[in-house]
Amino acid sequence: MRDLLEPIERGFEEALAEARGDADAIEKLRVRFLGRKGEVTALMKQLRTLSADERPAAGKAVNDLKVRVQTALEAAVSGAAEEGRRREVESGAIDVSLPGRRPWRGSLHPVTTVTRELERIFREMGYSVERGPEIEDDFHNFQALNIPPDHPARDDSDTFYVRGELLLRTHTSPVQIRTMEAHSPPIRMICPGRAYRHDQIDATHLPMFHQLEALVVDRGISMADLKGTLEAVWKRFFGEEVRTRLRPGYFPFVEPGCEYDISCRVCDGSGCRTCKGGGWIELGGAGMVHPAVFEAVGIDPEIWTGFAFGLGIDRIAMMRYEIEDLRLLLENDSRFLAQFPV
Ligand code: FA5
Repeated sequence: MRDLLEPIERGFEEALAEARGDADAIEKLRVRFLGRKGEVTALMKQLRTLSADERPAAGKAVNDLKVRVQTALEAAVSGAAEEGRRREVESGAIDVSLPGRRPWRGSLHPVTTVTRELERIFREMGYSVERGPEIEDDFHNFQALNIPPDHPARDDSDTFYVRGELLLRTHTSPVQIRTMEAHSPPIRMICPGRAYRHDQIDATHLPMFHQLEALVVDRGISMADLKGTLEAVWKRFFGEEVRTRLRPGYFPFVEPGCEYDISCRVCDGSGCRTCKGGGWIELGGAGMVHPAVFEAVGIDPEIWTGFAFGLGIDRIAMMRYEIEDLRLLLENDSRFLAQFPV
């Protein structure tokens, strides 16, 4: 076997010396020695014909040769690439004085940026940031929020059910309940997170969207605190010129309840496709915590009062960046996402 190895190795070295700097010739060498019908490969196959005594030593010798050939070929390939570049520079094909290409920089998703900014504003106002499960049970998503079994929000057409009592939370309000179960008042918390609904998909409705829940429970909290808080947050977020409005609205877990709108920033309130011509975009619902909700979590409504609100983060991102259609947020088109540098 050794007699066979030496001429092959010598042949390889001579051929390699000739091929140096030429990537195509090096590739041909690889096929000639290591390819399926290559010379080293043929040696490997011959090992089978040897006796059991001869095979270990011969096997090691052939394998060592194979490794030497492979290493030499790899070095020759990178040497050829280097040589190619040197030749290009010398011939002027590469202008080394040109500025380099900037590396591709990723950016944060607009929903992430908006969420982080809102979290920062609320933290500065003394709120804690809570999280809750996206697969919820009926009690936290509905019952404890004073949503009786026959309420339309429980209809199959709105809720994605998982199994039995489990469902994909339809809003972030169950985190209010979980927070009140875990902490006694005073409470001042927000919870940003995903929510899921079997809604008809359009420019302002997604099946999976993001909400920001807020809950404040203390002595003597009133609607004035709610209104003042919302105004303070939006002035910090959008700027002093922002126009907002509260309208009466019904949610079983607040009384009184209201809807919270912001003037459409895509058309400046004159009416467009995004705001369906109305000039306003609904950002969320709000109100004073219903006594039945306090009772469900064992908080005495005679002592404590509170406000809560839930806002659509995707719609806030829509306003902030003047995005006409929420579906763009889910499509992951890098040309769209690259427009939101960090
Ligand atoms: C709620 O979900 C209540 N939990 C809000 C609330 C919390 C009221 C606390 C009172 C007290 P509503 O269904 O209106 O309410 O949804 C709130 C916001 O979530 C909407 O105004 C909208 O901005 C956003 N939203 C709702 N459905 C979708 C959807 N399919 N796609 C995108 N955003 C949505």
